[in-house]
Order: sequence, then C-alpha cells, then structure tokens
Amino acid sequence: MAKPDRRSLAATVPNDLEAFWLPFTPNRAFKRAPRLIARAKDMHYFTPEGRAVLDGTAGLWCCNAGHNRAPIVEAIKHQAEQLDYAPAFQFAHPQSFELASRIAALAPGDLNRVFFTNSGSEAVDTALKIALAYHNIRGEGARTRLIGRERGYHGVGFGGISVGGIVTNRRFFGSLLTGVDHLPATYNREHQAFTKGEPHWGGHLADELERIVALHDASTIAAVIVEPMAGSTGVLPPPQGYLERLRAICSRHGILLIFDEVITGFGRLGYPFAAERYGVIPDMITFAKGITSGSVPMGGVIARDGLYDTFMRGPEHVVELFHGYTYSGHPLACAAGLATLDLYRDENLFERAKALEPRFAEAAMTLKNLPGVLDIRTVGLTAGIDLASRPGAVGLRAYEAMERAFGDEGLMVRITGETIALSPPLIVSEAEIGEIFEKVARVIGAT
Ligand SMILES: Cc1ncc(COP(=O)(O)O)c(C=O)c1O
Repeated sequence: MAKPDRRSLAATVPNDLEAFWLPFTPNRAFKRAPRLIARAKDMHYFTPEGRAVLDGTAGLWCCNAGHNRAPIVEAIKHQAEQLDYAPAFQFAHPQSFELASRIAALAPGDLNRVFFTNSGSEAVDTALKIALAYHNIRGEGARTRLIGRERGYHGVGFGGISVGGIVTNRRFFGSLLTGVDHLPATYNREHQAFTKGEPHWGGHLADELERIVALHDASTIAAVIVEPMAGSTGVLPPPQGYLERLRAICSRHGILLIFDEVITGFGRLGYPFAAERYGVIPDMITFAKGITSGSVPMGGVIARDGLYDTFMRGPEHVVELFHGYTYSGHPLACAAGLATLDLYRDENLFERAKALEPRFAEAAMTLKNLPGVLDIRTVGLTAGIDLASRPGAVGLRAYEAMERAFGDEGLMVRITGETIALSPPLIVSEAEIGEIFEKVARVIGAT
C-alpha cells in the first residue's frame, strides 16, 4: 500500500484495521471479524453499536473493582490536572509514597518495601534482578540460577519467558537467559479432575526442588519464582501443602522465593494476596493488574525488609539498585491505585470474593457433564474449563467458544489453548454468576 502524503495524513488515511498489530491475537482472523469494545461500566462492556457484553474475565484478570468506577475515574482526572509527570529518578511525588505504604500495609509479614513498574512483565524482571543483585552484594555472586516452573506464565520480558514454562512463548525467541531450570507443573488430570479449590494430590511435587538443588548445588541458585495459582496457563490452583514445602526448601538452602501475584493479588483468591490465603510468606511478591483495577498501567515488587536493608549500604549519595523505569510510580497510576484500594476497602471486595467462592465453584461445576468437558478447576473467583479438542485442530473449539460467547451470548471469556478461563470482577452478583455459566454452557453445547 502506497503511503499517503504526510501533510494530509489526517484527511486521507482510511480508518481501517490494517496498521495495528494486535498482541497475543490471531490478527487475520480478528481483522476478518473484529470484536471491538468502545465503552464499559461496572460488570459490562459495550460494543461501538451499544451491545452489552457481560465481563466474565475482569478484562484481562485486572478490572477487579468493575469498570469505570466513579471514584477511580475522578481520581485520575484530578491527578491529571495537578501533576502530569515528575521524574522517577532522584525526584518523587507524594502519592507514590502513600501508595507504597498502603500496599505494604496490605502485604503479609515484613513484605514492606515497594518498587514500582508499569506492568507485570516488568515486575517479574525487576524481582529477578533484585534477587541476583541481592546475592551479589552479599558476596554470594555465584548464585545466578533462576528456577521457574513448567506451565508458568511470568509475562513476556526475556527474564519472564526464561523462567516461564509455556512453550509457544519461548520457542521463537532464541536462547533466553542461561542457567534457568524448571520445576514440574503441578497439574495432573488423573489425580485432580473436577476439584474445587486446592487439590489433595500434588504437594509432593515441591520436593522436586530438592532434586534441582542436588543437581546444581544451592550455592548457584538465586531464586525460585512461581505463581501461587497459575492463571494464564488455565487456572491451576496449588496442591495442598505445595507452597509451604517450597518455602521450607528455599529457606533451608538460602534461595529467595518469589510469588508472582500479578493475577492473584488484590482479591482474586479472596485475600489481598494469595500469600495470605496460603499462610506462606515469600521473599518478594510481584503485582500489577488489580492494583489500579486495570485503569492505568502499573505493576511492582514488594520485598521483605531484610532484602531492602541489604542494599542500603555504601556511600549515601550512590544509587543502591541500578534499575528503574521512566514511569515507575507514574502520578496517574498512583492516583488510580489509591482510589482503587479505597474502593476495595470500602466495598469489602476481597471478603466479597471469599464469600462468593463456594457459589462460583458450584455454578462452574454444573457444566461437568456437558459433552467434551474434560476438567473444571476453581479457586477464588476463578475457573478453568478444559474442552476436548477436535481431531487435528487443537484450540479451535475454545476459539469458537470465545467468538460465540462474544457474538451470540454477549459474554466475554478468556481462552488459553483448549481451556476457557473465567475471572469476573469482584463486584459480580450471584445472579450474574448464574448468567455467566448458563451462557458458557450454551456456548459449549453449540461448539
Ligand atoms: C502471573 C503473571 N505474571 C506476569 C504477567 C505479565 O503482566 P503484563 O501483561 O502486565 O506484563 C501476567 C499477565 O497475565 C501474569 O498473569
């Protein structure tokens, strides 16, 4: 296509779908039949034509307070009028301290130090870098190995895909980070199918970390990173006792434990963080998504006091951690974050998620006997439904289910491989939970 004359750009460029390369989306199929969203309010999206679509996924697991909530919108507007931007290095603005204090107060134990990023991927890379630097400045610079887990998703930075365990996210991108090993995935359909909450079987898989330690020696391992509940790979709740065992092994060997709570943070599992649900305190928590209920990009790392303190040495005028982003703790994100945390507190949304969990799990399990449903897993306000693939067309059935849900039923679902994932905003009503699963049942029937 010939480029139009630049001077007349606005007038001559057709507003078509070609220029935009969509992320994690089959572009040609999308552009043939686009799913466009123009507006949102509370539990619903609206297409440009004004058709309502019930949000079964909180956007991308992020809009936990629901959409376009007035206090968040007002806070963003107000902040935009007061301060557009202040340098994040060597200067700061008051709201970033306030938000860090609020997050530290929500986090368990001595997880009290907050480093801001703009996304979950950046949060993961930041946590991995803090782990490496921490050992280095303590004189244990040989601790460079990072341990992730098969089927883990830790965003798309080179660090995140290296410790991640989803083959399509890794195989096209070269040799990745060196010195990375992986724990086995915790999912086993034979032992765990149709479990509500944490499965009984699988806690022993944490002991695989001992095997990895025996292979590489603890003196070469910096950190282990896992999602307490693996979300993007299809909702895999941790087996009972698994996270406790990981914690014990890491502590025994001086290895840092990182919980990637980008999805599980801010109420998804009925608690501020999954660490609290499971009574396990990691050395770092990564967060993003729910911190602003998806309204402004933001992520971050919460580190234990001892970790932070280890960096606070040397001459006081010298930077302690050579890392940061231009937009770390951006004023709009901080304002949105503070208003979001107020909403979570004032509407008791974490407690609400916890109270709704049994109803949500029960509604999900009503789909158990539909043809082609291989497994259903639930935890907090989250469900994963595995479908049987059509021969030679893995993923097509779930893809069609998503299209039909959006087009025919007015419901947004998320798909990964042949799994439908559901994670509605925490403001979802019992009636809407029923509506979500009735729609999903019809969609599964139709595919
Ligand atoms: C556990 C986890 N970590 C990291 C990320 C990456 O976050 P982002 O897409 O904001 O970079 C995600 C995104 O879904 C995630 O689920």
